[in-house]
Amino acid sequence: MFSRSASRTLSQARQFSSSASRQTKVTVLGAGGGIGQPLSLLLKLDPHVTRLNLYDIRGAPGVAADVSHIDSASEVTGFAADKLDEAIDGADVVIVPAGVPRKPGMTRDDLFSTNASVLRDLASAIVRVAPKANLCIITNPVNSLVPIASRVYEKAGVYDPKRIFGISTLDVVRATRFLASVTGNDPADTPVTVVGGHSGETIVPLFSQSSYGKGVTGEAYKKLVHRVQFGGDEVVQAKAGAGSATLSMAYAGAKFANTLFRGLAGEKGVITPTFIRSPLYVDQGVEYFASNVELGPNGVEKIHPVGPISAEEEELLKAALVGLKSNIEKGYKFIEA
Ligand code: NAI
Repeated sequence: MFSRSASRTLSQARQFSSSASRQTKVTVLGAGGGIGQPLSLLLKLDPHVTRLNLYDIRGAPGVAADVSHIDSASEVTGFAADKLDEAIDGADVVIVPAGVPRKPGMTRDDLFSTNASVLRDLASAIVRVAPKANLCIITNPVNSLVPIASRVYEKAGVYDPKRIFGISTLDVVRATRFLASVTGNDPADTPVTVVGGHSGETIVPLFSQSSYGKGVTGEAYKKLVHRVQFGGDEVVQAKAGAGSATLSMAYAGAKFANTLFRGLAGEKGVITPTFIRSPLYVDQGVEYFASNVELGPNGVEKIHPVGPISAEEEELLKAALVGLKSNIEKGYKFIEA
């Protein structure tokens, strides 16, 4: 069912969880949606998860009843719209795909006004009920919503930047898959680091750091970068009004969550790109940035710098920083209004 790298991850998780036996209580907010449903299914299969609470403003009890019949160890409970606090209570990890997705012709930024309010309200409940939970944000625009959530925590006096993550894993998954399409190699052998943010030009794939990727040059390289940056549009157009990526995103969300669970359980050397509060480009006015991050029992353990990059990637990074600065400011402006 899973790719070689994915099944390797899950089997490592199984081996590790049997020795560490850490309990991980997970809540999904937006569990009834296009991403939420398959994500809940994949989380039910993750051996780290012992309790899975599913919440949505509509449909979560039905999804929970369905998923709960799968024969893995975790207990699944569904929560109706008026049971948000109960759904969050005691969570170690809260994953949020709640909100509205894109339709053809829309950018992630077009989702801002609806999703910013959704995220602000959900974050306000989390700071009240489970302020120490690790918050993983899937809802777009991630580049603006992570700053909004962070301010909600700051205002409540419970901000821990090591525990708030924007999930940019789909960009890593796409870069890895699309590179494999060009080089013909197994994606498991061609992992690609993606830094910056999660939308259009803020997405910076570092093909020069991949043994296969550095061989792709000229027009082929330009096309590949464009496909990674705007790959989401392929899905939005193909779905023709029925939404954006859901299945690949659920896979990416579960993959990131598994990495986080392993870090929280004390496994060493667990590293993945994720969009977090980061000191790397603060001197250029960019307070949040995705780069490789080592995860551990307290969330973020170590933020890795971008490392050596090509001249083309330097240019991509410059453009990404401009975009990120404005996305972050937009988030701050919303929450301070
Ligand atoms: P969807 O519309 O199928 O599902 C969203 C769900 O959120 C619905 O079930 C809805 O009832 C629920 N919801 C809305 N407001 C809520 C609230 N206040 N509390 C709880 N639940 C609420 O949308 P889909 O396709 O699942 O996408 C969700 C979000 O994920 C969108 O913002 C989309 O842009 C984003 N996304 C992020 C990606 C990433 O790489 N980070 C990739 C693809 C999508």
